Amino acid sequence: MSNLHHYDTLIIGSGLAGVTVALELAEHKKIAILTKGELLSGSSNWAQGGISAVMDSEDTLESHYQDTLIAGANLNDPAATRAVINGAPEAINWLLSFDVPFTREDSGELHLTREGGHSARRVVHAADATGHAIQKQLTAAVEQHPNIDIFTHHIAIDLITNKHPKLNSNEDCCYGVYALDSETQNVDIFSANNTVLSTGGAGKVYLYTTNPDSTSGDGIAMAYRAGCQITNMEFMQFHPTCLFHPLEKSFLITEAVRGEGGYLRLPDKQGQGSIDGHRFMLDHDERAELAPRDIVARAIDYEMKKGGYDCVYLDITHRPKEFILEHFPTIYAKCLSLGIDIATSPIPVVPAAHYTCGGVATDTDAKTNIKNLLAIGETTYTGLHGANRLASNSLVECIVFGKAAAKTILSSTATAHPTLPAWDESQVSDPDEQVIISHNWDELRRFMWNYVGIVRTDKRLARAANRIALLHEEIDDFYANFKVNPDLIELRNLAQVADLIVQSAQQRKESRGLHFTKDYPDLVDSEKKVTILQKS
Ligand code: FAD
Ligand code: SIN
Repeated sequence: MSNLHHYDTLIIGSGLAGVTVALELAEHKKIAILTKGELLSGSSNWAQGGISAVMDSEDTLESHYQDTLIAGANLNDPAATRAVINGAPEAINWLLSFDVPFTREDSGELHLTREGGHSARRVVHAADATGHAIQKQLTAAVEQHPNIDIFTHHIAIDLITNKHPKLNSNEDCCYGVYALDSETQNVDIFSANNTVLSTGGAGKVYLYTTNPDSTSGDGIAMAYRAGCQITNMEFMQFHPTCLFHPLEKSFLITEAVRGEGGYLRLPDKQGQGSIDGHRFMLDHDERAELAPRDIVARAIDYEMKKGGYDCVYLDITHRPKEFILEHFPTIYAKCLSLGIDIATSPIPVVPAAHYTCGGVATDTDAKTNIKNLLAIGETTYTGLHGANRLASNSLVECIVFGKAAAKTILSSTATAHPTLPAWDESQVSDPDEQVIISHNWDELRRFMWNYVGIVRTDKRLARAANRIALLHEEIDDFYANFKVNPDLIELRNLAQVADLIVQSAQQRKESRGLHFTKDYPDLVDSEKKVTILQKS
């Protein structure tokens, strides 16, 4: 039995993007936030390094802009890039108004750290747990607001648009979503004048990732099925330094460790991490460890394959222990719990899928091509990141476009809604073999890692495309015949997103930023364009 909930604004996702728009609207609108886990689920709560903004009088907006274009291999959209960079200092002040406890100098000024690709110190941070410091403050404000209702453990399944077979309207318009309450197993209707997708990225499509479990690309897949334009999905960012340890598969070692002087080393002659290991980044790029992420991740991948190594090592042992404890307390404690004292031993690291640069195409008002549907945060393609995101440019994008989305919603007028059809479960039964879902899930993530990873070829992409086609058939069959559950919903979305990544990668006949293919190893001027996929 479907329950019907109606709100002025429906926000799907409670990461930094979702809570920003909620807080900006709450004085004026009745809001529902849906989240498939707890309120603190999502990548935002895991963010480590910080949030980039020009806060130092020696630094300039133009230099932040140029660094962003260089990292993005010049595929960035100038207007979106300027909007975020110019809005970044105000975003920091907005966070300060919620008392986010950023790290400060003895003088009381904000401490600015440095990360790869930045030509100046401009990363505002709360030691090495910036995301948690931000989300703790903002979600507390969300929980206290009388105009915001929070629905945890509600997973959005699909957007309800004019294309629903039981609705007949020609105007592309979004009315809300169907969402599964994973505690009661009910599928409810959430209808709203404006729906905002802020569901985060799709890192889980790869076997190894720094991302939390929520990142199954749901918003991108739902938007694609609804007819949105999906842009630049070939650009999946691999973070160079994810901890390599059998007991901890997704723990990031922040880029700020390199920003504060960390060296990347090969294993030493005994095959161990030590200060005798060769500092190999000097062989790959004059910026060494502080080159943009795509270059560092590719260099590590190259060295690991060449030497047959399981990992490389990140060495910060030359900095004083007090400095390490002050700047990286979370990483220090986590590594120590696994038997690695980072003040005396280098950290074993490998690259892992980290950030989805492509996504639902939006303009600088956060609008998609479907009326009343907006999108913000990692689920989007705004044009800021181009072919490779500059470190710490993501949290700030969530805030700048979260605020833009709120402005758009405040200036919009409500449209009349048709009666929305209930979720139809008349033709489905309980799943007979749930194990098929976990097998398909593992298979998908493994071949995406093997064939659509840091280095691609036409052949590998074709292999992945064949496997995706088979999986799609099986998953569609399962979806048509059995009741939905969260694992099935996520698997369906992961397969959709994998397909979008592979199709986009096949379209790009060059190597640019994060997309590197041995078949087209060079930059090609005529290929300097975005990849757009849209369901016909
Ligand atoms: P998220 O924070 O991922 O939130 C998505 C929300 O959507 C979650 O609440 C999730 O439960 C919900 N959701 C998803 N699907 C559904 C569905 N179907 N139904 C209902 N709810 C759904 N960026 C920086 O700028 N600086 C950093 O220092 C930094 N460090 C990082 C460290 C790590 C380990 C990781 C993984 C990322 C880091 N990033 C960093 C990237 C940055 O954290 C993310 O890009 C950003 O937080 C994304 O925010 P978001 O609000 O778009 O999505
Ligand atoms: C990190 O701290 O290395 C992550 C920063 C980012 O993803 O922007």
